[in-house]
Amino acid sequence: MIKRKLGINIDHVATLRNIRGNNFPSVSKAALVALSSGADSITVHLREDERHIKPSDVLLLKKILNKPLNLEMALTKKMISFATKVKPEFVCLVPEKRKELTTEGGLNLFYNLSLLKKSILKLKSINISVSLFIDPEIRMVKQAIKLKADNIEIHTGSYCNFLNNKNKIKSRLEFNKIKSAAKFASKNNLGVHCGHGLDYISTKNIRAIKEISEFNIGHFVISQSVFDGLSNVIKKLSKIVKN
Ligand code: PXP
Repeated sequence: MIKRKLGINIDHVATLRNIRGNNFPSVSKAALVALSSGADSITVHLREDERHIKPSDVLLLKKILNKPLNLEMALTKKMISFATKVKPEFVCLVPEKRKELTTEGGLNLFYNLSLLKKSILKLKSINISVSLFIDPEIRMVKQAIKLKADNIEIHTGSYCNFLNNKNKIKSRLEFNKIKSAAKFASKNNLGVHCGHGLDYISTKNIRAIKEISEFNIGHFVISQSVFDGLSNVIKKLSKIVKN
């Protein structure tokens, strides 16, 4: 049985901080609280418009964290160059549209292929573990294998939306797609992570898929912390993921 890991995405601590333009709440303090409460890694998405996390946050986190940093970013030359300077333990390549509220779908692994191939090789050559954020589709998993990615991160957003809307049929269908993609990837030696839209209930459900080794959770953690506190929320999620 794979040991499950919990990655905490702290982008929205930066969202809150940026509203007032000072350093409160502190992104690095949130990261340290997350790690001491059971998180195994910290995720930040450095968007091209820097709407929440800034390059300086990434640099500081890399310096102070004693557990892995997972840098989510778009597939652009500028971001790849930044990642090669920071050298986080993980890079997760995600699609990015300027006007979207959040990452709306998985990366199209058949698009911009030359840059994608070069970037994966470059990152892996300096010991960064590369993850590709994809929709739960076997053709995408096959392409991730061809591209020699280390891991895939399966987009769980649709599943979570259907579950929250109590659409049993569609949530079951999405769940099965995630399960098939995870099994296929794992059989082919890809690490399988998942994330997007997860909360206590969806995490518990998806945990039933034993091939998934890592859960990356952000918005729910920061939102639920308003009521219960960051440490308590992460402790509860950690129990769900690891028990
Ligand atoms: N994984 C990836 C690749 C993401 O882009 C995001 C959102 O930034 C997450 C996980 C976390 O999603 P959420 O904030 O909905 O938990």
